Amino acid sequence: SGTYEFLVLSNRLPVDRVVGPDGESSWQHSPGGLVTALEPVMRAADGAWVGWAGQPDLDLDPFESDGIHIVPVPLSALEVENYYEGFSNDTLWPLYHDVIAPPTYHREWWDSYVLVNQRFADAAIASSAPGAVVWVQDYQLQLVPKMLRAARPDLTIGFFNHIPFPPYGIYSQLPWRTQIIEGLLGADVIGFQRTADAGNFARAVRRLLGYTTKTTNIEVPGENPRTVIAKSFPISIDSMSFEELARQPEIQARAEEIREGLGNPKTIMLGVDRLDYTKGIAHRLKAFGELLADGRLDVEDVTMVQVASPSRERVQAYMQLRDEIELTVGRINGDYATISHTAISYHHHGYPREEMVALYLAADVMLVTALRDGMNLVAKEYVATRFDESGVLVLSEFTGASDELKKSLQINPHDIDGVKDAIVQAIAMPRVEQRKRMRAMRKQVLSNDVAHWSINFLTALNRAAASQRERD
Ligand code: G6P
Repeated sequence: SGTYEFLVLSNRLPVDRVVGPDGESSWQHSPGGLVTALEPVMRAADGAWVGWAGQPDLDLDPFESDGIHIVPVPLSALEVENYYEGFSNDTLWPLYHDVIAPPTYHREWWDSYVLVNQRFADAAIASSAPGAVVWVQDYQLQLVPKMLRAARPDLTIGFFNHIPFPPYGIYSQLPWRTQIIEGLLGADVIGFQRTADAGNFARAVRRLLGYTTKTTNIEVPGENPRTVIAKSFPISIDSMSFEELARQPEIQARAEEIREGLGNPKTIMLGVDRLDYTKGIAHRLKAFGELLADGRLDVEDVTMVQVASPSRERVQAYMQLRDEIELTVGRINGDYATISHTAISYHHHGYPREEMVALYLAADVMLVTALRDGMNLVAKEYVATRFDESGVLVLSEFTGASDELKKSLQINPHDIDGVKDAIVQAIAMPRVEQRKRMRAMRKQVLSNDVAHWSINFLTALNRAAASQRERD
């Protein structure tokens, strides 16, 4: 297999293996924003994507999918347990999301994390041409930048953290806190969603390593002193493609069908999340249930649709969450639904993008109540879809998106009374005010799409690498 000038590394590949009824397997591009954003860059640079195919014990040769070179990294069943479900999603995920769930610290999980990170690094080393640009994605691969630099000082190395970086008081719980920041500092540029995340990281570097930081520059001393850039690059979506789908008559017809299927209520409220304890789904349900109990909302007028897509189903905290949410949904429907009107239409499924856009079009009010979220792209997808400038976005201040979508109705999801008031305000909001707010948010989302994000990051990366070369 060949070597490439541009590589993207992520735990999960942007393609899913689908096995047909005949047992033949094929590859389907997942509709994620990251692929859409990087596809043009990938094609122009003849780049390759390095990652895991999402199933244990699958040893695949590099292949091509829709003109993108794919370099699969295999994981054994035990590595899926220790590196992926364990360290990535039962240690780092809850720790980085403000310990909403208690993180578990296991030394075997850490050992597996180190080993698998080295495997990703080795795959990238073997696949990269001299002087190549390697862009590492997310918390599953934080040790990779240092591993790459140790073996290949010729590479330009970028890292982007899609999830929050926690305040030092929380981060410092991690027994391997020093190794992780040293791992990240192997990069030339470390990108974060919010300015606050970059600030938290710089503080951890000062506290743990004693390095000097000045705004976005971190001075790494040593034989070859380096300047590492750590700053925010808020990620986005392929905004235009959402608007284009929303303008299709078939999708508008589907939105109409959805409304009718729900009995044409005056207001449809929508929640769309991976079924994850960071998303504040229980808080949202509590607020809605109380509004029905108080009589401030009537089930004849308002229906809530909750899409909760299955996620990390073998991790304990996720199983518990599912039980808790489904119990609550059942209770609320049992107490308030009538024969003709449901209170909550709940769906434990993922849907194709077309169906999601139809749902966004059908929804008068979008509820995003995350307790902590790196960005929250659902908020941006809703905004991009609402081309007629109607609709209200209720948005948690604990999301990266709230830094940019200032005209949303911002809430603190822990403040149930505040959430209830925001819901009532959203439902009653006059069209003129909806338009004013939605117009401002649409301007933001359409002019800062995911292509901008990747260009901004890669420009900063090339610049940083060039000035470092000058210095060396
Ligand atoms: C978040 C993370 C991604 C991850 C995705 C889905 O968005 O930032 O890195 O891929 O969730 O989670 P999963 O564990 O299924 O890959």
